[in-house]
Amino acid sequence: MQRIEAILRKEIGLNAASIGLSVFERVLRLRMKLHNLNNTEEYQTLLANSSGELDAFIEAIVVTETWFMRGREAFAAFAELALNDWLSRNSVGLMRVLSLPCSSGEEPFSIAMALLDAGFPVERFAIDAVDISANALARASNAIYGNNSFRGKHLEFRDRYFVKVDDGYALSPDVQRCVAFRRDNLLRGGFSLGVRYDFIFCRNLLIYLERAMQGVALEKIRSMLLPDGVLFVGPAEMPIVTECGFVSARISHAGASRLKPSSPESGNRRSNRRLALPKPQNPVHEIESQGEPDKAVSLLVIARQFADAGLIAEASELCERHIKENETCAEGYYLMGLLRDAGKDAGAIIYYRKAIYLQPNHHEALVHAALWLEKNGDVIRADAFKRRAERVRPKPLDEK
Ligand SMILES: C[S@@+](CC[C@H](N)C(=O)[O-])C[C@H]1O[C@@H](n2cnc3c(N)ncnc32)[C@H](O)[C@@H]1O
Repeated sequence: MQRIEAILRKEIGLNAASIGLSVFERVLRLRMKLHNLNNTEEYQTLLANSSGELDAFIEAIVVTETWFMRGREAFAAFAELALNDWLSRNSVGLMRVLSLPCSSGEEPFSIAMALLDAGFPVERFAIDAVDISANALARASNAIYGNNSFRGKHLEFRDRYFVKVDDGYALSPDVQRCVAFRRDNLLRGGFSLGVRYDFIFCRNLLIYLERAMQGVALEKIRSMLLPDGVLFVGPAEMPIVTECGFVSARISHAGASRLKPSSPESGNRRSNRRLALPKPQNPVHEIESQGEPDKAVSLLVIARQFADAGLIAEASELCERHIKENETCAEGYYLMGLLRDAGKDAGAIIYYRKAIYLQPNHHEALVHAALWLEKNGDVIRADAFKRRAERVRPKPLDEK
């Protein structure tokens, strides 16, 4: 397993311990099972020789957990700097912002919404967004988001920029147009976007990286940041950047830093000034959730993969752990229902019902609850669930 860890370390800088060695091992076992391989040496040879398998392993192992306005103080600080600092110094030209890693788009779209809310002229900024995960980027281009993407109490932005659709909330095309997405690996040799940025958001990536690779990643970020630029990282990542040539911009809870004055890249303007930002209303909650790698979501992803591979016992164990850590996650209960159903366990209906309770328009849970009830002779209730399922059935694209 160490050799496989080493491949991942070299390719994406991953520190396997950051996501949990047991999670790493489970992904490995699953990939081996999918290729009918029994020993890790054979799998290592496959991984080393197949870029497709490497991509699949990376896709399964990365934590793409994210949500809109994650760490609100960062977006408030950013909008203030953009409007009152950058725009007042630059009467022409484009302000460039990079979100890397952007995952499924919540971060770069939050950047766009923060600028639009601040009244920043839309023709004066460009946002690039990069991530290694093709699945996450596909979700970004779909731009329809479920409840997990909206957390905390301050969701007014959702009324302004989203419309409710059957399977979640669809983001306004005006916001979508502000962001250009691209798939790439920050840690690949020769990585370059060909431009330099006024602001870079590199949040919740460094925490997953091997120590030496944190330095490599920050070197690349540094080379993309303009001398006067500002880097935003997750609060737990601030100690890492201040060890690698950045100084805190001293903006409360924003995770903002600038290049060290002594650095050849840093500008003459010193910006260690404090910004007068409104006091955060709920900083502790957001900082805690920002700082902690979300193993739970990655557990559910892996549980699904085990389920798809027919490994019901393993999938059930992970799903149970996921539910324990995420008591309000409808997806977790739905998957547990499927797993119980697959094991012919009469308790499946309890999980379907719980999923429906948490997410009343959960189409698949309604359908499976109906099938379960029908199978168990409760035709009247089955029909009621079927009717509900029909009402919330997602429409095919050409019907929309
Ligand atoms: C936890 S998400 C962070 C998303 C967002 N920045 C935030 O803070 O909410 C981490 C993301 O890093 C991406 N990632 C991991 N290694 C990467 C690499 N070497 N290059 C680009 N993206 C990477 C993953 O695919 C995942 O979407």
